[in-house]
Amino acid sequence: MCQAFVPLMMKADYGRVVNVSSSLGQLNDMTDKDKVPAYKVSKTALNAVTRMVADAAGGSNVAANSVCPGWTRTYIGGPEAPQSTEEAANTIIWLATQPDNGPTGGFFRNKRRIGW
Ligand SMILES: NC(=O)c1ccc[n+]([C@@H]2O[C@H](COP(=O)([O-])OP(=O)(O)OC[C@H]3O[C@@H](n4cnc5c(N)ncnc54)[C@H](OP(=O)(O)O)[C@@H]3O)[C@@H](O)[C@H]2O)c1
Repeated sequence: MCQAFVPLMMKADYGRVVNVSSSLGQLNDMTDKDKVPAYKVSKTALNAVTRMVADAAGGSNVAANSVCPGWTRTYIGGPEAPQSTEEAANTIIWLATQPDNGPTGGFFRNKRRIGW
């Protein structure tokens, strides 16, 4: 998707890429306790893609960021999750609607930057 669309965004001089990742992909807190290694590695890899896209789009008005939506009541999250889908969408929408010169190449949760 990024390979297809980011060049067009750069041509239009506007774009906001928001990759929906997970804190389970954070290397600085990587453990085996969740027993979902493929999921975790896929999110770590997605975060790396975010960094690459942000770098490739550097100097343009195209921003690329990763977001952890938080534990949410969906098929994956299950009914016990504390958060609604509306609440989970907040930071995603916030990143998708950042003004020019907003953050790029970052990882966010609850509208705050978190570690990789
Ligand atoms: N829920 C959480 O607690 C939580 C926490 C952290 C991060 N996330 C992330 O948030 C994102 C959304 O997750 P969710 O909780 O909304 O999960 P979900 O309810 O299971 O929804 C996943 C969606 O992905 C689609 N999908 C799955 N495999 C696909 C494929 N191969 N090609 C195209 N579409 C595919 C599914 O389509 P169908 O409905 O057609 O199967 C479904 O619409 C995911 O990236 C997840 O990793 C979720």
